[in-house]
Amino acid sequence: MSDGGGVRAGFATRFGFIMAAAGSAVGLGNIWKFPYITGEYGGGAFVLVYLACILLVGLPLMYAELILGRRGGKSVLGSLRALIKDSGEVGEDVATFTGLMAVASGFLILAFYSVVAGWAIHYFFISLGLITAGATGEETFGAMFANDWVEFAWHTCFMIMTITVVARGIEGGIERIVKRLMPILVGILVLLLIYVCFTGGVGASLEFLFKPDFSKLSADAFMEALGHSFFTLSLGMGAMVTYGSYVKDDTAIVRDGVIIAILDTFIALLAGVVIFAVVFAGDAEPAKSVGLVFMSLPDLFVTMPGGQFVSAAFFLLLIFAAWSSAISLLEVVVAWLVDEKGLARPVATWVTGGLIWLLGIVCLHTPAVFDFLDNLTTKFLLPLGGLLIAIAVGWLVAKDDREAGFKALGDKGDLLALGWTWVVRIVTPVLVLAVILSGFEIFPWQQ
Ligand code: TRP
Repeated sequence: MSDGGGVRAGFATRFGFIMAAAGSAVGLGNIWKFPYITGEYGGGAFVLVYLACILLVGLPLMYAELILGRRGGKSVLGSLRALIKDSGEVGEDVATFTGLMAVASGFLILAFYSVVAGWAIHYFFISLGLITAGATGEETFGAMFANDWVEFAWHTCFMIMTITVVARGIEGGIERIVKRLMPILVGILVLLLIYVCFTGGVGASLEFLFKPDFSKLSADAFMEALGHSFFTLSLGMGAMVTYGSYVKDDTAIVRDGVIIAILDTFIALLAGVVIFAVVFAGDAEPAKSVGLVFMSLPDLFVTMPGGQFVSAAFFLLLIFAAWSSAISLLEVVVAWLVDEKGLARPVATWVTGGLIWLLGIVCLHTPAVFDFLDNLTTKFLLPLGGLLIAIAVGWLVAKDDREAGFKALGDKGDLLALGWTWVVRIVTPVLVLAVILSGFEIFPWQQ
């Protein structure tokens, strides 16, 4: 099955595949995290660095993962094994280690991701007036955070939403949902953009996001931008390998990778423009961390005309973004069980989903576990996975397999393939290694 496609059931259409991959990429990271780290590190200059990181780390890794899946034709572990089997025992060990780590990352990330998605559902119902809010956003958040049962209910609800889709398989489950979800998501975002054009703050928001002030750029900002560039594209844990294994062999994988990255970046920037317009129209400060979306924005929404609807639309957007990402997180684990362990998909999905649900309950009950998993995965496991995948694809996979996706581009393709090969062999690993090391705070500027 090393020529991918054909034998394995997969996406019926190219549109379905792009929406699924973009849906994976567009998540809480775009709508919640990107705006707040941009706020924290000073706006425009950070955005520029972030875009450079997408080019130097995100795109090369995106292609590496997609081609790995397409040529390997299996889940992340199976694809790695299939493609680096000729490079001896070391290759085999790298494949096994990377594959299992990727599956573990998917498992761990989904546990806390689902809790945060649950918060978005809670806020959606608050916006509709079905749940009473606190006097301020801070109070609303505090009350929710202190009440395990509330978090438990929404986390359960979100996990069931995710499990039922994945249990139905690629075409009948994932593709069917994401090809509706993603256009609606973009539609909501465009409506919100039009809305803030009337309520003001757009000018200030654009200035904040796009006028670079390099004096605010610290070494930490570089590391954050680097780390986020592959978190936001769902790289480093085989999500794109897995989706890549479900596309037909004639897909222009290079071009599709670029489209996915552009969609992801565009949606993050658009969300940023909307969010900061609301912030500046309300004369507020760009708040940090969880506070921006779950504390400041709700306070600002209520002061705006039709704020209730805007708020509902915004949290629906957040739910949809999180949902399509969660689907791909679960799919990574399920694909592994189906391919390698021969489990039936529905069984694999419900069992894995159930275990993740349990871990999520631990997360919501014990914030320390939540933070630990968040840090472990985003600061360590994902970068390490990205590093290993870059090395595996750059150095261990045969040239033919590695460059297969560039073939369709003709002469231009050869040159691009050469450039990409050296970026993914050297530049990407070095930059990703820097992210891992900065996670341990060993650089002089971190002392
Ligand atoms: N890209 C997602 C976001 O921006 C988060 C994420 C990271 C993810 N790694 C992933 C989602 C793997 C799915 C699969 O929110």
